[in-house]
Amino acid sequence: MVAVELLHTARVPARTLGAARALLDDAFHDDFDDADWDHALGGLHALAWADGELVGHGAVVQRRLIHGGRALRTGHVEAVAVPSARRRNGVASAVMAALEDVVRGAYELGALGATDDGAALYTARGWQRWRGPTSVLGPAGTVRTPDADGAVLVLPGVVPLDLDGSLTCDWRDGDVW
Ligand SMILES: CC(C)(COP(=O)(O)OP(=O)(O)OC[C@H]1O[C@@H](n2cnc3c(N)ncnc32)[C@H](O)[C@@H]1OP(=O)(O)O)[C@@H](O)C(=O)NCCC(=O)NCCS
Repeated sequence: MVAVELLHTARVPARTLGAARALLDDAFHDDFDDADWDHALGGLHALAWADGELVGHGAVVQRRLIHGGRALRTGHVEAVAVPSARRRNGVASAVMAALEDVVRGAYELGALGATDDGAALYTARGWQRWRGPTSVLGPAGTVRTPDADGAVLVLPGVVPLDLDGSLTCDWRDGDVW
């Protein structure tokens, strides 16, 4: 039985943040760095617990994504992971249900950069692949991010979207998407 707790970073005990970081390092096979962790901080964490053990993590943080001439208030989903021994039991689905509730209640749009493993999870839940060109608004202006093309998924909200149009994210250290 999995219970999902939603907590702002400021309210997550340091021990739990440490457990979440360890879970992410393990789940991504050490392809998860300090910048990736930084991207998951400052918003809400969905923490999945089973028998007192942290068995799943995801976070939603606010970003601005520019589309159709607007800077959309976006709930960006970060750092979704489940330990390998716990997978295919619906844990990530429970984490995502909690995060999607936040996205629908507080943001104009949901977005995330998906791994190959993750994409199937999200598309089965109604997330849609962005088909148009992606870019970042960085210190040098707007720069195309061709590596992110096809890997960005969105959860449409109230704002009309053209999935073949351009989508530009705000700047941050590390992977911008
Ligand atoms: C992706 C991940 C979070 C999925 O966690 P999970 O708890 O196993 O996911 P769920 O059990 O809730 O899966 C729900 C559905 O998503 C789909 N799905 C999940 N993982 C999948 C995979 N590896 N391949 C194909 N479909 C998958 C399936 O439709 C699954 O339903 P089913 O088991 O009835 O077929 C987990 O594999 C993981 O931590 N991977 C490494 C880190 C990572 O890539 N995170 C995603 C970042 S974008």
